[in-house]
Amino acid sequence: MHSFNTLSVLFTAALSAVSYAAPVPQAAPVDLSAVNGIVNGVPVAGPVVGGVLSEAAGLTSGLNLPRQSDVVDGILGETPAGDILGGLGLRAAAPQSVAVVFTTVQTEITPLCEQLTYITAQNATIATITPIIAQIKTSLTTATTSLQALVGQELSVILAPVEGTVALTVAAVAQLVGGVLVLLLTAVGAVLKVVVGDVQAGVLPLLTDLGCTVAALLKIVLGLVSGLLALLLPILAPVLSIVASLGATGLLSILSL
Ligand SMILES: *[C@@H]1O[C@H](CO)[C@@H](O)[C@H](O)[C@H]1NC(C)=O
Repeated sequence: MHSFNTLSVLFTAALSAVSYAAPVPQAAPVDLSAVNGIVNGVPVAGPVVGGVLSEAAGLTSGLNLPRQSDVVDGILGETPAGDILGGLGLRAAAPQSVAVVFTTVQTEITPLCEQLTYITAQNATIATITPIIAQIKTSLTTATTSLQALVGQELSVILAPVEGTVALTVAAVAQLVGGVLVLLLTAVGAVLKVVVGDVQAGVLPLLTDLGCTVAALLKIVLGLVSGLLALLLPILAPVLSIVASLGATGLLSILSL
């Protein structure tokens, strides 16, 4: 069985291929960007991809949206299937590991979190805070999507290091994930401490929403790495009061608090 996630990635790619191909149905070139999207989302070997593609074609025609199966056929028809599958095989590298995903998040959000951590009453305005929170949220959302590709993978893939070949221990994952969460929640705590009045009213919903994004990220990584929560909680101890003051109940329940 192919996962629903895999099918939905293909389905989405097929849909985007439709909108791309619709204006020029005859001469439409193969939409390689759609194929690349599939490759990035589907960490499987060539023959399996073939099976998934035919399943996707069945799925789309079953939905009574005739054009989608045309597009799937079109992609397969205009380029020899072997080429596509060969390309898929080449490009279908293992998905990013937890270590790679969280290291990327850490790099992306560190400068953003620093701006929030050192925020002052003078520059704590809705106009300065809003885009920073939005960028942090984008980074976390991308990470969550990347981690979804790890569901069902071998532990060696999930725990693969950023460099080298030695898999991360659960304790090392806890350090990495915990570090990102402490960085983030410290920044949130600094904002909560400084903002008052209208700014507080404007910023609080953004922070609560960010808490939901953090919850989604945390939920998936806890599902991928068993035993992580117990090692994570002591690392998060200094920032748990910030989670509580955010009123991020989703986050609290994921942490079993
Ligand atoms: C606010 O000012 C402080 C002190 O200059 C600075 O460190 C911080 O990055 C600024 N934050 C924002 C959001 O502009």
